[in-house]
Amino acid sequence: MQDLQQKIAAYEAEINAFQPTNAAELEAFRIQFLGTKGIVKEIFGEMKNVAGPQKKEAGLLLNAFKIAAESKYEAFVHLQGNSQNKEAKIDLTLPGTSIPLGTRHPLKMVENKMVSIFEKLGFSVATGPEVEDDWHNFTSLNMPENHTARDMQDTFYVASNPDWVLRTHTSSVQARMLEKGELPLRVICPGRVYRNETISARAHCFFHQCEGLYIDKGVSFADLKQTLYHFVTEMFGADTKVRFRPSYFPFTEPSAEMDISCTVCGGSGCNLCKHTGWVEILGCGMVHPNMLRNFGIDPEVYSGFAFGMGVERITQIKYQVNDLRLYSQNDLRFLRQFQSIE
Ligand code: DAH
Repeated sequence: MQDLQQKIAAYEAEINAFQPTNAAELEAFRIQFLGTKGIVKEIFGEMKNVAGPQKKEAGLLLNAFKIAAESKYEAFVHLQGNSQNKEAKIDLTLPGTSIPLGTRHPLKMVENKMVSIFEKLGFSVATGPEVEDDWHNFTSLNMPENHTARDMQDTFYVASNPDWVLRTHTSSVQARMLEKGELPLRVICPGRVYRNETISARAHCFFHQCEGLYIDKGVSFADLKQTLYHFVTEMFGADTKVRFRPSYFPFTEPSAEMDISCTVCGGSGCNLCKHTGWVEILGCGMVHPNMLRNFGIDPEVYSGFAFGMGVERITQIKYQVNDLRLYSQNDLRFLRQFQSIE
């Protein structure tokens, strides 16, 4: 045993001192220590001479020695460059490593679908800033100061400048488009909006909307109805029915809210439609003459319609997602359920 210990200590010193500078030196080392007639093999052969009770200790010692020689070799294996030896280690018959495909976020999928439906009708996409000024978010939309929609409870104001808000709706992009003065105008404006709400299953401090605006000579409420009906049949299927209820928005006159027949129960009554058979999906109306005047457009010559819908709402109906918080929690179990190329 002592004999063996001494031998190994000497070889280990030799291994430690070994610093190859090229592949040939490394290969010589491999043959000397790790080759079929090498020192490691030889020393292992000496196990048979070790007395029974000491075999365990000797085994540990030999293993450590073998590992020391192998690690030294591995540490310099890069010296071989692209030599055949290295290439031979790649087993081309092994199956490749598959790269998992990501999935689109459900809100983006629905937004893309909305945009593509309207693009086919000749609408183009417009965007605007999320930090918006009072004029574009409120005043120009016929919501003067002291209008209830500006309530501090609902709007996030930017602390450093009381004229700035986080936009509360994508209708602000309508204002930005009208301001450009290029008529006729046919745009769809998807984007994120903010409201000062306590986060729950049904409310969130940020969500997404998609706004639509069409201004031209002779645009009528019939155009509005037909355009939105077309959107609904493309998004939810040809059997879906629509109904319009009179409503109020400061920037449209007349205004309406549009419901669709419940896509879950078909109208017989369920939780989604609260047993009414109908679910509300958007607000709309004919652009208010005051708003056109705000941008120097003559309401006697031009008319138009506008609409705004919540992307979360459409997604909720399409995929029966019952908790708004799921959209922003990054839970892969939720996100992986949505597979799409859209
Ligand atoms: N801006 C409204 C909201 O956030 C939605 C809306 C209603 C937009 C009617 C419109 C419209 O363009 O005509 O609730």
